[in-house]
Amino acid sequence: MTAPHSAPAIGILAVGAYAPAAVVSNAHYAARLDTTDDWITSRTGIRERRHAAPDESSSVLGIRAAQNLSERFPGALDGVNLVICATSSPDAMFPSTAALIAGGVNLRGAAAFDVSVACSGFLYALSVGYGMIRAGLAKKALIVGSEVMSGAVDQNDRNTAILFGDGAGCVVIGEVPQGYGFQSFVLGADSAGGPHLYLRGAALRLPEGTEMGPHLTQNGREVFKFAVRTLGDSAEQAMRQAGMSTADIDWLVPHQANIRIIEAACERFGLPLERAVTNLERYGNTSAASIPLALAEAESQGRFRDGDQLLLAGFGGGLSWGAAAARWWAGP
Ligand code: ACO
Repeated sequence: MTAPHSAPAIGILAVGAYAPAAVVSNAHYAARLDTTDDWITSRTGIRERRHAAPDESSSVLGIRAAQNLSERFPGALDGVNLVICATSSPDAMFPSTAALIAGGVNLRGAAAFDVSVACSGFLYALSVGYGMIRAGLAKKALIVGSEVMSGAVDQNDRNTAILFGDGAGCVVIGEVPQGYGFQSFVLGADSAGGPHLYLRGAALRLPEGTEMGPHLTQNGREVFKFAVRTLGDSAEQAMRQAGMSTADIDWLVPHQANIRIIEAACERFGLPLERAVTNLERYGNTSAASIPLALAEAESQGRFRDGDQLLLAGFGGGLSWGAAAARWWAGP
């Protein structure tokens, strides 16, 4: 989908993030499981991740990320009448994590709901927020990605425990000056790959028969191949729909799952790795939180300049994918 040129431009107005205090290093797993720091670092690029405290649910992390946004961008939450939270680790099926976050940051009364598309969730939530503002259903939207993945994985399973971490990131989107903001979105899903990556809900098995245990399960090799292909392809599609070529891209902000996936996607895409924002070394894969966490961190480091061309791209359970092209507005 490409943004119409005549309508008001919609883009990111503010960003925020929160990561729990507890740092869990690779050494923690090497001491408990049949793995090593060297294996984890060389196969994934991850050196440490954060784990939420027992009283830090996804809504608590999301509220802290929104408070961080508000401190960094005073007044940015004023007038927000839509809150969407992308999460695969909601506090409850209902109330939605989004409603709890809205209540926690004085946005009671705003429309609020969760979006569940695993690690692609933030891009889906962003596109829904964009579409609702474009349709006149909302004025300004707080889009949050928040996850407590440490509880979703079996901490004794070396295949998954080492990969995931907890955290939250968020953005406020709304009207920006013409020439800035979102230019295109690409979204997709294919349930044929569903059995390669799943987390049980109310059913005990997937429709094709896969029995689901209580924890996140994945076929790492299949997800890896899928990720390299779709990360590059969806980002490229979003870029082309925005009328850009690789030379126009200042920053790729990819889902932070594995540095080898990002390297391979950049190579496929013809983009130097230095132009990809990465922080998975310190946070691991925080699922729906990973893109806004990377965005907020890069912004706080002053890496984005006014007018920079960004490409956001994610993939995950479903299997699913999402990408967006946007021109960065650094504010008035
Ligand atoms: N330490 C040591 N050995 C391990 C570990 C570990 N932590 N984890 C797996 N292994 C073993 C495997 O058991 C396997 O052993 P085997 O050959 O005896 O069966 C061996 O290492 C090699 O396995 P590979 O799958 O070839 O390893 P690979 O280089 O592919 O790396 C990894 C595995 C890191 C999981 C990789 O495949 C990957 O990153 N896949 C994508 C995962 C991903 O992105 N998931 C998130 C999706 S987003 C979402 O929506 C949740």
